[in-house]
This record gives sequence, C-alpha cells and structure tokens, in this order.
Amino acid sequence: MNWTEEINKRRTFGIISHPDAGKTTLTEKLLLYGGAIQVAGAVKSNKIKKTATSDFMEIEKQRGISVATSVMSFEYQGKIINILDTPGHKDFAEDTYRTLTAVDSVIMVVDSVKGVEEQTRKLMEVCAMRKTPVIVFINKLDREGRDPFDLLDEIEKELKIRVRPLSFPINRGTLFKGVYNLHKRYLNLFRPGSQRVSEDVIRITDIHDTALDRLIGEKDANQLRSDVEIVETVYDPFDKEAYLQGTLAPVFFGSAVNNFGVQELLETFLEIAPPPRGRETDKRFVESTESKFTGFVFKIHANLDPKHRDRIAFLRVVSGKFERHKYYHHVRLQKSFRFSTPFSFMAQSKSIVEEAYPGDVVGLYDTGNFKIGDVLTEGEEFHIRGIPSFSPEIFKELINTDPLKSKQLEKGITQLTDEGVAQLFTQQPGNRKFVGTVGELQFEVIQYRLLHEYGASCRFQPINMTRACWLRSRDKKKLEDFIRFKQSSIVYDKDGHIVYLAPSEWFLKMERENNPEIEFHFNSEFKTEQV
Ligand code: G4P
Repeated sequence: MNWTEEINKRRTFGIISHPDAGKTTLTEKLLLYGGAIQVAGAVKSNKIKKTATSDFMEIEKQRGISVATSVMSFEYQGKIINILDTPGHKDFAEDTYRTLTAVDSVIMVVDSVKGVEEQTRKLMEVCAMRKTPVIVFINKLDREGRDPFDLLDEIEKELKIRVRPLSFPINRGTLFKGVYNLHKRYLNLFRPGSQRVSEDVIRITDIHDTALDRLIGEKDANQLRSDVEIVETVYDPFDKEAYLQGTLAPVFFGSAVNNFGVQELLETFLEIAPPPRGRETDKRFVESTESKFTGFVFKIHANLDPKHRDRIAFLRVVSGKFERHKYYHHVRLQKSFRFSTPFSFMAQSKSIVEEAYPGDVVGLYDTGNFKIGDVLTEGEEFHIRGIPSFSPEIFKELINTDPLKSKQLEKGITQLTDEGVAQLFTQQPGNRKFVGTVGELQFEVIQYRLLHEYGASCRFQPINMTRACWLRSRDKKKLEDFIRFKQSSIVYDKDGHIVYLAPSEWFLKMERENNPEIEFHFNSEFKTEQV
C-alpha cells in the first residue's frame, strides 16, 4: 500500500457529549460494527459516576479502564478508525479539550429529551476554535423527546453552527417508527434491540412513492412528506466543504442503545469525515503527507502501579512514519529518544507496533520526559499550535502539611500537572503554589495521588481567584509596572508565562479598562483564542 493510501484510509475522531447523552453507548455500538467487540456491554464505561465528589476512589479504579479505552482502533470497510475517548465527567473537561487537539473531526451526541446542555456548549466552543468538523447525532428517539425542528433550531442557536439534517425521524417515543435518510434516500425502520449489526433499510428514492404509506401508514407517511418538504426548503443542500471547514454540521437521528441509526451514521461518517490532517506549528503548517515524521503528545496517563512511576504518553502521528527503535528529536528537551515498546490500541488490546502513520495514536512508556504538547520530529524545531491551557475555573493554594516531604511534594505536583490533571501556577518571590482546575474533584484526586504515589501530604486552601489571564504587552515598562503593583495576583505558569489571577469578572474588566496597553488572554496560546 502506498503512502497516501495509508493516510487516506485512516479516520481519527472523538465522540463528545454532555454526560448521559449516550456517548459510551454509541462508542460501544460503533465497536460492535467494527468487530472490535463481540457483544454489547463489553466496553466498560470509563465514565466516572456523576453522583458525588467523594467518588474519587472510583476514579482510581477507573483509571485502569480508561487507559484501555483511551484510544479504540478498528477496521471497517477498509478504513482504520481511531476513536479517541474523552472523559464525560465535567471535572475532567480540560482532558477532553486536550484530546480534541488530536482528532480530525468529532461526533457530537445530543439527548433528544434534554437538547443542548452545558457541556455540549463548552465542547462545541473548543471545536469551533479549531474549526473541527462536527457531525451531530440526536439520540434517544425511542423516548418522548422534543420536536426535531425545535432541536435543530436550538443546536443552531446555542452551538452557533449551521445544521443540515441528513435523516429525519418518523414520530418519537413509543410511536417511533424509524428515520428517512435524506442523503441516501432510504427508509430505515426501527426495531428495538441492541445486538443487531445491520440495519433494516428500504430504498425509497421518491418520498411520494405509495410504498411508504404501506410501510408506515398513511398518516405518518404524509407527515414525513411534509417534514421532508420543510427540511428541503428551510435548509440548504448538504455542503461537504462547509462541513469540512467546521461551519456546517450534518445531523442524524437515532437510538444508540437500540443500535438504531448507528450504521447509517458510521457509513456517512466514513464517506464525509476528513482523513488525517496536518497541524499548524509556530513555524509553518506541517502537512500529513510530508515524509518526515512529526508527532505530538496530547495526553499523559499515570500508570496504575504506584511503585513504578512510569506513565504512558499518547502520541498523535501528524506526518511521516513513526518507527519502533528509531531515534527522534524531542524539541523541548533538545534530546534524542527512541522507543523499544511503542504500542497501539487495535481491537482494544495493547500490542507493540513497528510503525504508525498519520492519524494513528501510539502509546509510549515514559519515565517523566514528556509533557502535554511535546513534539517529536526528525530534527526540525517547532511547536504545535492549538494545545493551549485554558483558564481554570477553581483555584486553590497548595499547602504542604509535612515539611520533611517538600521535595516529594514538589516533584509530585510537577508530574501530576504535566499529566494535565490540573494547572500549576507559582508566585515569586515566596514560591507559593496555586493549583487551578475545572472541577472540585481534581483536588481530591491530586491530594490522594500525592499521598499514595509520592508520599507527600498536603491540603488545599481556597483562594479568592476566579480567572487566569495570560498577559502580554508591547510596552515592557507598563507590563513591569503592572506586575509590581499587582504582585499579589501575579503568578507564573509552568512554562514561565506571566499570569494575572483575577478575583472577579468585575475586577478583570476594570483592570482591562485601566490598562489598555496590556493584553489579557484567556488561554496560553493567544492566536487561537476566542474571547
Ligand atoms: P454517556 O457516556 O454520554 O454518559 O452516556 P451513556 O452511554 O452511559 O448513556 C447514558 C444512559 O442513557 C444509559 O442508561 C444508557 O443506557 C442510556 N441510553 C443511551 N442511548 C439510549 C437510547 O437511545 N435510548 C434510551 N432510552 N436510552 C439510551 P443508564 O441507565 O444510565 O445506564 P445503563 O444501566 O442502561 O447502562
């Protein structure tokens, strides 16, 4: 197989949703089609039960599972499909945002009963920032959900993306009869059941065909005709280019738990979703078709065995071919590394890989050499853009409660924040450490892991800060003055960038107005930002 064929046969994507919309169920059904699993229920949900924050022990258990489900690869109709898993729990949203840097497109699951929810909105903002192509799957049509046109309107309005239904449902809830595929012009009849691996489709190219009345009854056939007419007049025809640019989302309706509409989704996905794309760097755009290898780390996972502090770094291949035993240049450390046991995630089992191509994700055993965003090349020097840190939402000061273990604490917190579980900010002078997260749960996780993996005990003290802003100014003097005057709110991130911690939105607004020469950025990488 030649080089471009290898690249073109890969599709690397993520499934995202608000918790409970059906992401895990849909993932499982896709794996069922891919033959990666034999029976439904085989994929343990890596979602952390959403009940209480005290569930962090559960997270420890789940960490093992989530390594296995971090990347799920399988072959379907000659294509290699890599699904990158994203944690559903809100408190792990940062991890999800990072994983989205490594995908080329996403499938967004929306619950037909609940419509657009908080996480759906946030995740969509991240996709919009990167112009990631999105397909929407409206799930749970077997339940008494909302009117499909209302849902489509809500998605357009709330997610700020144009939509184009490619299928349309016939009733919903107990009366749900199936969907009509507007793209391929067939009727997909609903039969409840979770283990089917092929859908019951009947070709009806003309919606006015009387066969439709015989199949679903005259009343529903007429309703469908009228709905389809509305769709065809209200929405422009599907424009693949607009989808690829991330400005138009095709929409499907179905029921993941009943394995309904999933094959339809998968097949259209394979037809329209982009093959592995290149990545923007601070020097130039790296095309996926370039022959020299480039890859970047988007996720780091601590190993389960606390006695061995090695970790797994997840590397997305951007260009060229990754080869086992070959030396690569680690740009940040300016060192060469080679990997004797890189592994892939084919059919849910870890197996050593000899080579990997653009779009693939390789697991690398790491003893502390990698941070999220690190780049490996064949010698070229650049950093991949689009892997910024976002402002955390909760900030607390890390207080050492065992002075004899300061070194362990320092090392532990550095390594844990390298993994991306939280962000670390340090204040100078004084070396005070502030940890920023998107959820309370992380503080418990960090405290627990520091104690069990590093033997360091600590507590977290709430501080009155709500937002991190990365500062920049052309006027050096003004910036220095600001840093001096606001010393108690100035900290440095792990890369040494100057960060202002704002006590409130009101304060932030005031500081921006009073200091027009200073730029306040809400993520560490200004170019991709949306304010
Ligand atoms: P998530 O990963 O997005 O958090 O959601 P998940 O797939 O775990 O699904 C959340 C719940 O919704 C599950 O029920 C699941 O069975 C159900 N579900 C998924 N798809 C459909 C669908 O098409 N129709 C209906 N009616 N339900 C659906 P649960 O009770 O939380 O878990 P379980 O005990 O059923 O596994």
